[in-house]
Amino acid sequence: MKIIAGNWKMNGSRSALESMIHDLESVDTENKVILCVPFTMLGVKSDRVATGSQDVSAHTHGAFTGEVSAAMVADTGAKYAIVGHSERRAYHNETNDIVRAKATQALANGITPIICVGETMDEKQAGKTMEIIESGVRESIPTDASSDIIIAYEPRWAIGAGLTPTDAEIEEAHTLIANILADMGLAGTPVLYGASVKGSNAAQIMSIPNVDGVLVGGASLKSDDFIPIITSVK
Ligand code: 13P
Repeated sequence: MKIIAGNWKMNGSRSALESMIHDLESVDTENKVILCVPFTMLGVKSDRVATGSQDVSAHTHGAFTGEVSAAMVADTGAKYAIVGHSERRAYHNETNDIVRAKATQALANGITPIICVGETMDEKQAGKTMEIIESGVRESIPTDASSDIIIAYEPRWAIGAGLTPTDAEIEEAHTLIANILADMGLAGTPVLYGASVKGSNAAQIMSIPNVDGVLVGGASLKSDDFIPIITSVK
C-alpha cells in the first residue's frame, strides 16, 4: 500500500473537487489517496478519499486575522495538513521552528501533519543536500511526536520544473530520512517523494527503497493525470 497525496496549491474550485472525488470513487486501488486542497474547499465528504489542508496556523486561536487553526481544519472532517511546504518556506519565510509549531498544532487536534523537507538549488550546488534534509527532519518534527506523522521529501529545485533527481539521489535522500526517523524513535513513518511526479514516472519512483508514496502537485489537478499515478502501483 502506497500513499498518493495531491497538493492542489492555489488551484481548483469546490465543483472541481466534487468532480475529482466522484472520479476517484470508482478507482480500484488499495492505495491511500489524500487530496490537500485550499481551506475553502474542505468539508467535501468521501469514504474513499481523505482530505487535508495545505497549512495550519502555528497558533491555537485568537487575534490572528486570516489564519486558520488546526482545530478549524479538523472541524471540517479533514485528517491531514501539509506543513512546511517549499512554497510556504520560500514566500512566507517559514523556518523549521515555525513548521514544528504548526505540526504540533496539527497533532494536538488529531490531524496528521505531512511535514515537507528539501533542498534548494543553491543548497544542492553547495553540496548541502544531506545536511538540509537532516536539519529539516530533526528540527521540523515535534519532539513528542508519535508515529502519526508523514514526511515528504521535496527537492525544492525540482518542484513544478519538470525536473526529477536521479533514482540514486532519491534513494540516498529517502534512506537518510528513514535512518534519522529510526534514530528519533519514529521508525516506520511514511516518507513520500514529491516534485514533478506524473503518470509516466510514478511507478518507477515508488519502486525506490524507502519511498512510501508520492506528493503530487500539478498532476493531481485533473483525474486523467492523477488516476494513472494512483493505479501505477498496487
Ligand atoms: P509538482 O508535482 O507540480 O512538481 O509539485 C510538487 C509539489 O510541490 C507537491 O507538494
